[in-house]
Amino acid sequence: MYLTKEEERIYDGEHGWANQICMKILVRLGELFSATRLIPISSAHISGVSYKTLGDAPAEFLERLADADGKARVKATLNPQSFDPEYLEKRLPKHIREKQFNILRQFEKMGFTQSLTCTPYYLEKPKRGSHLAWAESSAVVYANSVLGAWTNREGGPSALAAAIIGKTPDYGMHKAENRKPNILAKVETPLQNEAKFGALGIYLGKILEDNIPIIQGLKNVSEEKLKQLGAALATTGMVNMFHCDIHLEGGKMEKISVEAGDIKRTIEDLSTSSKTKPKLVFIGCPHCSLNEIRQIATLIRGKTVEAGTEFWVCTSRYVKKKAEDYVKKIEKSGGHVLTDMCTIVSWTEMLGIKTIMTNSAKTAYYAPTLNKVETVFAPLKQCLKTVLER
Ligand code: F3S
Repeated sequence: MYLTKEEERIYDGEHGWANQICMKILVRLGELFSATRLIPISSAHISGVSYKTLGDAPAEFLERLADADGKARVKATLNPQSFDPEYLEKRLPKHIREKQFNILRQFEKMGFTQSLTCTPYYLEKPKRGSHLAWAESSAVVYANSVLGAWTNREGGPSALAAAIIGKTPDYGMHKAENRKPNILAKVETPLQNEAKFGALGIYLGKILEDNIPIIQGLKNVSEEKLKQLGAALATTGMVNMFHCDIHLEGGKMEKISVEAGDIKRTIEDLSTSSKTKPKLVFIGCPHCSLNEIRQIATLIRGKTVEAGTEFWVCTSRYVKKKAEDYVKKIEKSGGHVLTDMCTIVSWTEMLGIKTIMTNSAKTAYYAPTLNKVETVFAPLKQCLKTVLER
């Protein structure tokens, strides 16, 4: 891989250990994927922020990096951590809180923005055609497919290294020839709500692997429904991008048909619980947009959350602040608008949560394993019907 003189100096350690180790990570990655050079990025987004998934050894590595003066050279945002600083923090043991806060301190020391969200694009939309180094698969698919930015699906360490060097190896989704569709998915059934878009993603992800589909037949599309679709595609597959441009022709490529039965079976499989009353109803995977919070507040219409059930709406601090009036309505009903956290990487077991109802196909897919809960998967309106008193 070709390195500029300056990059070589970083590689040789002339700019200190932190820069050297990050450069070595990027060069190794580039060599693995036959990249010929590094290219500048306009932002990085880091996953692996929750202490629950990170653990002690990577947290110590972060500390070493921060002590060695590692500094982000580009705008660098963080994925969610393991609890909300206002509501859940009080319910968790001190040692967990301290470990988590220590991780956040290290990132802060290195100049990372404490965004703590998996929808960093609501804070600042990357420009079309800009090169990014984003981890968090749902954000990667959204950036490539909806926003027209260019990013590979980074792992936590490579996104971190890219943030510190300000560059990423030039391969994969950074090359125009790798962004073309190579498979046609025809959706032969109407998808009336966001849960069905999520189910489509789960179904297609298993078939597509790392192919790039043109998805045809989608109606009543919104950015939020595409967010659910992309998050789910990346859950069961290595898909980094989809096209749903009706003007793109499928040509001679392989075709897949998606029928009503495929969506129905996928939805059924994502519900593992027969219980009608979940302990937690959770909306906000990926983190809610302002629109989604407005929709929830409108649908609540002054009703209250049933006693014995928790209702969490997860978003970023940024969106929560913008949604102040809607947040008041949701909280008045007994719900909690939580920021900074992801339910999947939070400590739900410690909170005694055994069943989660959600409109997110990604959460429904992961929660049985990662949270050891049963799941009920349903669209937002049904989730609200369940959690609100009649
Ligand atoms: Fe975001 Fe967690 Fe879902 S990081 S995409 S809320 S699994």
